[in-house]
Amino acid sequence: MPELMINIDHVATLREARGTYYPDPVYAAGIAEMAGASGIIVHLREDRRHIKDRDVVILRNVVKTKLNLEMAATDEMVEIARDIRPDMVTLVPEKREELTTEGGLDVKGLLEKIGRAVKSIKEKGIKVSLFIDPEEDQIMAASKVHADMIEIHTGAYSDAVTEAAKRVELEKVIRSAVKGKELGLGVNGGHGLHYHNVKEIASIREIDELSIGHAIIGRAIFVGLDRAIRDMIALMGN
Ligand code: PXP
Repeated sequence: MPELMINIDHVATLREARGTYYPDPVYAAGIAEMAGASGIIVHLREDRRHIKDRDVVILRNVVKTKLNLEMAATDEMVEIARDIRPDMVTLVPEKREELTTEGGLDVKGLLEKIGRAVKSIKEKGIKVSLFIDPEEDQIMAASKVHADMIEIHTGAYSDAVTEAAKRVELEKVIRSAVKGKELGLGVNGGHGLHYHNVKEIASIREIDELSIGHAIIGRAIFVGLDRAIRDMIALMGN
């Protein structure tokens, strides 16, 4: 069974909706760890629309499992990561106008830029994961730039409407996970996963970690964060 990493960005989204100091994502991290999450993920965006620098600094000090900082491969973000030293960084593409991360990172097309960022982050002893679409050439490129891990984008699988389309997308994720392991990479997955589509992905043997945010924070409004996380872990284990 993969480990569950909780993305707590949307606790901060709710805070920012009113410009208040609550709900504090730092509290969410503590509850998530106590409920059995294997780690905490936050995406520090260029526009700071939800997670703020202050959140990442405090989380670095209080998270006892694993802190995964999601970020764009910009000079500003690389400096922040080198300074704060999360346990791992996930490099993602970022567009200002998007609601959430859309496609995977074009590692193949940006080999030099991504390679430089990976090297600079790894110099500080931080592991680096690259968020990529389930495509063989992107996985090969991730290996070429010496990433430690890949995170396979499960968005197309999650968005598939018919059972046939879902099967096609699932097969791509499986093939990519196998390829990643063959190349010696750690293999994670995430995006768009929820309580009704997680089982198939969680049963892929090659996947080490799943990164889930929106569905869990959404359910937490009704049942509480502790229960929402425990429900997800139970589903992933079945
Ligand atoms: N992985 C990456 C790289 C992401 O950008 C996100 C969204 O912040 C997730 C996983 C989690 O996606 P979701 O919120 O749909 O569970």
